[in-house]
Amino acid sequence: MDEKWQRPRGTQDILPADAARVERLRRLVSSVAALYGYGAIETPVFEQTAVFVDGVGDGTDIVQHERYSFVDSGGVALTLRPEGTAAVARAYVEHGLSAWPKPVRLYYWAPMFRRERPQKGRYRQHQQYGFELYGSPEPSADAEVLLVARRLLERVGLTPQVLVNSIGCDVCRPGYRAALVSYFQERWADLCEDCRRRATENPLRVLDCKQDRDVARGAPDIADFWCAACRAHQDAVMALVADQGLAVVREPSLVRGLDYYYRTVFEVHDPSLGAQSTVLGGGRYDGLTARVGGAPVPAVGFAGGVERLLMAAGSAVAEDPVPRAYVAQVGPGRAAWRVGEMLRDAGIPTEVDLMARSLKAQMKEAGRRAVVVVLAGGQEWEAGRVGLKRLTDGREAEAPLVDLTETVRAWLDEHER
Ligand code: HAM
Repeated sequence: MDEKWQRPRGTQDILPADAARVERLRRLVSSVAALYGYGAIETPVFEQTAVFVDGVGDGTDIVQHERYSFVDSGGVALTLRPEGTAAVARAYVEHGLSAWPKPVRLYYWAPMFRRERPQKGRYRQHQQYGFELYGSPEPSADAEVLLVARRLLERVGLTPQVLVNSIGCDVCRPGYRAALVSYFQERWADLCEDCRRRATENPLRVLDCKQDRDVARGAPDIADFWCAACRAHQDAVMALVADQGLAVVREPSLVRGLDYYYRTVFEVHDPSLGAQSTVLGGGRYDGLTARVGGAPVPAVGFAGGVERLLMAAGSAVAEDPVPRAYVAQVGPGRAAWRVGEMLRDAGIPTEVDLMARSLKAQMKEAGRRAVVVVLAGGQEWEAGRVGLKRLTDGREAEAPLVDLTETVRAWLDEHER
């Protein structure tokens, strides 16, 4: 087909069967949010570019290489949302949510746009679910979002292994940064081209370069540089989640790719996903509100890719088949048409023929789409009665029209059980 008529590279069309799985996952995310008291927040699909440049950080891949940015006809610089955290922080500041009782718990489900190299599990438009908790500097806040992540993953049948680290704070990170820079200078010849640039601009990022794993392995460990407060925070988070039976592993090279993190960072990987194995990631980001025009507010959260979670979950998030009725028209007339709306009035998912099919062809079609067939028309109809057939077990009956909805509902319910 002409390329012009294909979807843009790295985007997806989601057809009904997959859309049903997406919908199911969405309900699951909402139910976990409700369980922990997180309220839904929606922000625009695009923001003023500064929200992401200042919020996520000028030197990050998202901002430097992956932005979909444009200037609108009014001369305003806008960017399609590449991630939710900076956008939510902007909304938090704009609406004065710091006046709300603390902590403020928010969650979202939203499309994100990053001009990355497309591959399995990596798209230019993807969906994220995210949880953000504002107002608490306590390790228990970090632990809560980790427990939320665990519950979510368990509900889709995954047993997560969570990698955790602390990237320190303004007190201890500069010392670590300096140690890393001098270490990278010694290993300069072994660094890839990108990392030579990162080694001075953003040396922590070298640690999660896929090509330079050997260099990362030999690098100084930030744990040796943590100040007492960062160490105590990290120990407390680890203890709180361990207390709840959540297995977390400290990963010294875990640094995350966004500039707003502070202290705790974490990720969950699923090796079955291949190269793009990060199911979700997050951490603490106490300084972010200050980057987007507000006062600093302690905050912590995470987000994960919907597509990746669906891939990892497999049949654990299956399409929810809806048991339906099909009304076949017997002979001429509009009986099926009327019965169809009658069943729908009672909330029963129902289809009627729109293809002028013969009765035989309607029955065949019903076999593909429905559990119960109602036969409406002919002499029975004149007598105020309809025929019924349950396709799953062959049960047949005749029912007065007045009892029809009750009978259909009962037959569908029995089928579900
Ligand atoms: P992130 O790690 O950049 O973090 O993205 C979160 C998750 O979104 C990833 O773990 C991955 O599952 C999914 N993801 C990212 N990019 C793509 C892509 N191109 N295609 C498919 N899936 C993708 C953040 O965005 C932070 N805002 C997370 C956070 C929330 N930190 C604190 N609160």
